[in-house]
Amino acid sequence: MRTAPHDLPSGLASLGDHERYAREVLDDPTWAYLFGAAADELTHGRNIEAWRELELIPRVLRPLAGGHTRIELLGRERPHPILVAPMAFHRLAHPDGELATALAAAALGAGLVVSTQASCRLEDVAGTFLPGEDRGPLWFQLYLQPDRAFTRDLVQRAEAAGYEALVLTVDAPVQGARDRERRAGFRLPAGVRAVNLDGLRSPPPATLPAAQSALFDDLLLHAPTWDDVSWLRSVTRLPVLLKGVLHADDARLAIEHGIAGLIVSNHGGRTLDTAITTAAALPALVETVQGRVPLLVDGGIRRGSDVLKAMALGASAVLVGRPVLHGLANAGAQGVAHVLRLLRDELEIAMALTGCRTLADAGKVPMATRARKNQDFFNFS
Ligand code: GLV
Repeated sequence: MRTAPHDLPSGLASLGDHERYAREVLDDPTWAYLFGAAADELTHGRNIEAWRELELIPRVLRPLAGGHTRIELLGRERPHPILVAPMAFHRLAHPDGELATALAAAALGAGLVVSTQASCRLEDVAGTFLPGEDRGPLWFQLYLQPDRAFTRDLVQRAEAAGYEALVLTVDAPVQGARDRERRAGFRLPAGVRAVNLDGLRSPPPATLPAAQSALFDDLLLHAPTWDDVSWLRSVTRLPVLLKGVLHADDARLAIEHGIAGLIVSNHGGRTLDTAITTAAALPALVETVQGRVPLLVDGGIRRGSDVLKAMALGASAVLVGRPVLHGLANAGAQGVAHVLRLLRDELEIAMALTGCRTLADAGKVPMATRARKNQDFFNFS
């Protein structure tokens, strides 16, 4: 078995470099599971492309002294708008798993959203993250389990451990058709499991009348609905954000249900292939939400300039997924820290070169699309 790397390899200058390096570090099935997407992986690729297609129009000779990347999120000031997206089983990338990610995120002032399917105990991850000075937010991502008593216990554990909000993922009542993962024959290795779900019992299988759908009549019998969002709010004192919202009507319903924030996401292209890209979905959601709750976005962010573009379109903050696991695979906590540092440095450079002194002014950063379509969305002032 290879020794897990802890030292940053030399010559890595971008998130793309981290990805290329990590490909050499991880075996094929693990790579397919962690970084594959649904079906033809079109949404995954288009997420990345959609940010690249947006062009920033620099502004010059503006006063920039005293600029910064600080933002306010859920009532607290944060050093910058970059959070680690919830992802399962960080120990697949590196034996230090979520603990390494937490250490790096806390040190770099990034937020951390810990997955229900984390491979380290949620209490240990919080214990690593929370002492960080000038840290970002610590949130717990939740999949509502059919066993609601178990779900409530999990929520109470997250509250007791110091998590500041719950992120309910709503775009994956069923897994997408992950062709790459199935071709590679991925199986979780011994010793890596969703430790926070230990003790969870599966519901008894439904007895199906012949010719019925195993998906709709069994698996989805327990899929959450808007009533369950109200239930979740009734059992927690934490703010609840919804992750996986792409339609304006769902954003409206979420606000009606007392949701504290929304994450515009297509699950990194891992659920419904050909779902709209998050960059394309964001402007209409910004328009609908009108600043009533924070609107975060993930999917395809690979450069600090992408972070600025998301903020320019009206996002309150962004989440980054796969690149964090590339960094983790390459050098544990040091690798994650490097990825987060690169993104933040690039964000500052992009702000300076567009004359954007603080992110409160990001909405004034002028943009166009390469195809020169949809110009109405963008501000040319
Ligand atoms: C889980 O949410 C996954 O995308 O694998």
